[in-house]
Parts: sequence; C-alpha cells; structure tokens
Amino acid sequence: MALTISTPSNPSYLADDAIAKIHENPGFGVYFSDHMALIDWTSELGWTNARIVDHTPFSMDPAGSVYHYAQEAFEGLKAYRRADGSTWLFRPRSNAQRFANSCARLALPQLPEDDFVESVRQLVAVDSRWVPSGHEQSLYIRPFAVATESFLGVRPGKAVTYCVITSPVGSYFAGGVAPVDIWVETHYSRVANGGTGAAKCGGNYAASLLPQEIAYQHGCNQVMFVDNAEHTWVEELGGMNFAIITKDDELITPELNGNILPGITRDSLLTLAPEVGLTAQERPVSLAEVYEGLAKGTIAELFACGTAAVITPIGSLTDESGRHEVNVPADGGRTIALRNLLIDIQYGRIADTHGWTEQV
Ligand code: PLP
Ligand code: COI
Repeated sequence: MALTISTPSNPSYLADDAIAKIHENPGFGVYFSDHMALIDWTSELGWTNARIVDHTPFSMDPAGSVYHYAQEAFEGLKAYRRADGSTWLFRPRSNAQRFANSCARLALPQLPEDDFVESVRQLVAVDSRWVPSGHEQSLYIRPFAVATESFLGVRPGKAVTYCVITSPVGSYFAGGVAPVDIWVETHYSRVANGGTGAAKCGGNYAASLLPQEIAYQHGCNQVMFVDNAEHTWVEELGGMNFAIITKDDELITPELNGNILPGITRDSLLTLAPEVGLTAQERPVSLAEVYEGLAKGTIAELFACGTAAVITPIGSLTDESGRHEVNVPADGGRTIALRNLLIDIQYGRIADTHGWTEQV
C-alpha cells in the first residue's frame, strides 16, 4: 500500500541563521528539525493518514498503553550532506527490515518497507535545511512506533502511532574519535535469552541505564554487556556493537545469538573488512579471550560501531577485577582505516559499489 504524505500548508520554520547557529555545535540528539512524519494504525483500519506536520508534542491519554507496558520499537539512521550539496541516506531499507522485525517481536503492526523509506525520505526532503554540512555531521533520523490505545489490560494495543523525528548531530561521544573507556558489566543484564535483545525497543535501553550510570561512576564512557546466563560471553555495548581486530588481520565480532542487535554498521563492516585486508569472523567471543589477547598482544585493536558511534576505538576495558588497556596505534590502525572507508562511502567521496546509499 503506497501512502501519500501530505505536507503542512502553513509550516512554522526556524530561521536559517538560527539553524546555522545550531549547526556550529549540534551535539547529539539535542535539537530537532521543524517537522515530523506520522502514520496512524488501528486494528480496524490498518495504516492510515500518513502526513508530515510540525514537530509538536503528542497528546496522549495517560492510559495510553506505551506508558504502562512499553510497547514500543524504534530505529536510527542518518542523512548525509555531500560536497555537491545533495543529501543521501545509508541503507534505509535495512532499517525498514529491522524495524519490521522489532515490531513483530513487540506485537506491533509492521509498516511496509516502502512506507518506512518514503516517510524518512519525504521528511528529510521537507527539512533539508537541517542536514548539516560540517565535518562528520549528519541528520540523525529516529523512526519509532508506540501503542497509544487507552486500555490497562495487558495485550497488544489496538491503536499505534508511527512517527519519525530528526536531529542534526555531530559526534556521539564528546571526544569524537578519541578512544573510549568501557565498563564491563558482569552483574546486571540488559536482555535475557528468549527476550527482546535482537529487537530495537525502548525496554532494552531502560534496562541499560543503571549499568550505564555505573560505567560513568567508574570513569567510563560506555557499558559492555555479557551473556545473562554465564556472564562469560561478550554481547554488545549499551548502544553499539563490539569488534576486535587481531594482529593476524582478523576482524572478529560476537555472532548474532538472539540477544544482540543486528547492527547495520556491523553488517557493513563485515562486508568491507576484506577491502582493508581483514578477514571477517562472527563467532562467540569470551571475555577471558579478550583480556588474554590484550595482555599477550594477539588482539591489536577493539572498537565500538553503530549509526550514532560510527566506529569509535576502545582504549580500555574495566571490570570489578581491574583495567585492561588497549595499546591503541598512534595512526589509528585498521580501526580508522575501516572507519574512513565507511564514511567515505556514506559521504559519497568514493563509489558505493554495494548499493547502500539512496539519494533523498
Ligand atoms: N547495538 C545497540 C544496542 C544499538 O543501540 C545500536 C545502535 O543502533 C547498535 C548496536 C548498532 O546498530 P546500527 O549499526 O544499526 O546503528
Ligand atoms: C543508534 O546508533 O542509532 C542508536 O540508537 C544508539 C544510541 C546510542 C543513540
């Protein structure tokens, strides 16, 4: 079903000079563009009323089911401004597919892939002034769906709102590409076997907030989670996937075990690895193997990867037993080589031979 997205007849735009000021230092997720896309769903009518309206607060009954039972799923992707002024999305169809999978797990209705991509594309087109052009800046796009039905019984909501908002962003971490320090959480779990770990839903992030606070208390930037049963196997970070580069030119990342978010950056890097001389492997990775590899020098580099984080080198891992340093190469090593390859594709500085980029 193709939906027509109507634009508002009387939009209230922020002035160009105010947007330019925001673009000088956008931070991450602090400022929001003028508009949002909305599509309604009811169990009776299905998806209806696709529209782009001013970015304004929702009005929802306090009995709205998302407030009580967290029936919600979301996505994260970016629009990139190229040197010629054009704006491009990176793998929006992969986000659409993951969103459908997350919605299925959360018993939310699945928005057709074309409607997801079209809602993103039209919103970015309407708010194209908000796509920044500064070094490594982009427009972060946050599609999400929430159950809005006023009903306190525990069952899937019969009314759902799909919404897309956007935010001009710079680096996720304040230090940019400077190596980040990671707290390894071995007490609290983010997700459990058979739970929602492979879905991108708010509940997973709610469960990560206290461990993330503990990470800050230990002077770390991010939290890493291990498996919930044995507290032995590395899974992922609070908002990023995790990868290792060995001295033998292997790129190793924990396999998708149902508890890990199937990151689109992770997937792209597995494809790009051979182009920077790395052999890619997805397999279980134990915490002991990582610590031993760092101590013996068989592991050369560690990094975090995701839409927000892009690729960020990891400088250390700390847990209750102490701190494990990474000997980060002065030239950034292959982590930065991989990062440069990825962002050159995203910003159109080199040819996209994988069909990943789509013009807005
Ligand atoms: N893992 C978690 C928990 C995340 O929040 C993210 C970010 O979206 C990722 C991994 C990386 O996914 P992607 O590369 O699709 O952004
Ligand atoms: C993303 O990278 O899109 C995320 O959702 C992660 C979050 C840390 C912003």
